[in-house]
Amino acid sequence: MTVSDTISDPGPAQMQTLEASLKRSTALIDQTLDAVLPRPEGLHARVAEAMRYAVFAGGKRLRPFLTVASAGLFEVPQACGLRVAAAIECLHTYSLIHDDLPCMDDDDLRRGRPTTHRQFDEATAVLAGDALLTLAFGILADSATHPSGEVRAELVARLAKAAGSDGMIGGQMIDILAPGRDYGEAEVILLQQLKTGALFEFSCEAGPILAGAGAEDRSRLNKFARGLGLAFQIADDLIDALGTAEQAGKAVGKDQDQGKATLVSLYGIDKARAESIRLARTAAASLASYGSAADDLRALPFFLLDRAA
Ligand code: IPE
Ligand code: IPE
Ligand code: MG
Ligand code: MG
Ligand code: MG
Repeated sequence: MTVSDTISDPGPAQMQTLEASLKRSTALIDQTLDAVLPRPEGLHARVAEAMRYAVFAGGKRLRPFLTVASAGLFEVPQACGLRVAAAIECLHTYSLIHDDLPCMDDDDLRRGRPTTHRQFDEATAVLAGDALLTLAFGILADSATHPSGEVRAELVARLAKAAGSDGMIGGQMIDILAPGRDYGEAEVILLQQLKTGALFEFSCEAGPILAGAGAEDRSRLNKFARGLGLAFQIADDLIDALGTAEQAGKAVGKDQDQGKATLVSLYGIDKARAESIRLARTAAASLASYGSAADDLRALPFFLLDRAA
């Protein structure tokens, strides 16, 4: 018997509580984003307009929720968690703007609206992405995010690792090289861990970093993020394989069209679903020691499995 067998899956009441928490945190995160994003002013107003267009196009705000919830486990002041959460959403939105460019996935629809390069133009989209990436680090380095310079430096270094060439960008590189390469399970799992998982890991570890918590707490949150990230990516690949653009708010069927191996193409639909449930259970079990304080976090992987967008 494994630890995950001893914990039951969340029921409808826990899912409802989670949905209410997601709504509350999204409202707070959007307020924080509005406060940190530049206002369109001056000769360069267009870049701020494009940044705001991309950030406020909707989006599930999952990564910021993870940070707010992980900070909540350690009694970190809410304003600190929200600023780190806003930094992650800025960085994530930059990654989406660039991912959609003609030289990458060449997509016209994102978050249910025209992609940033479609709404503005390619040069503006590249610049808006660059500016969001830069802003993310500016937010972390600001003393309003945490009184300790050491904690701020640790956040900056950890996010740089998660988003850089051995993290998210490395994953994007492996993904771009995928067509024509015969990736097997190990390569696809590495791709997903870097492309999607690295940012989830940062989002979850930000709580213990802000709190100055020890290695054990970080490792629990890291383990949770790893399972959650993979389960999330299988769900994204299932949406790509089975969903509609209308529901997803973005083009679907791209992985197959581009000949990209995913865990869905390798395992088949049924085994991919079963694997995502197994991963959700393992992720939830890694937070068992936090008791009811982690109920929302433990329910999240299951919530993400049933999503259509
Ligand atoms: C989309 O992420 C990109 C992937 C890593 C699959 P999300 O599904 O979290 O996108 P938004 O933020 O809700 O638009
Ligand atoms: C995007 O992955 C991941 C990053 C932007 C880092 P995908 O290309 O699979 O995301 P979607 O399906 O366009 O949202
Ligand atoms: Mg892509
Ligand atoms: Mg894409
Ligand atoms: Mg995808």
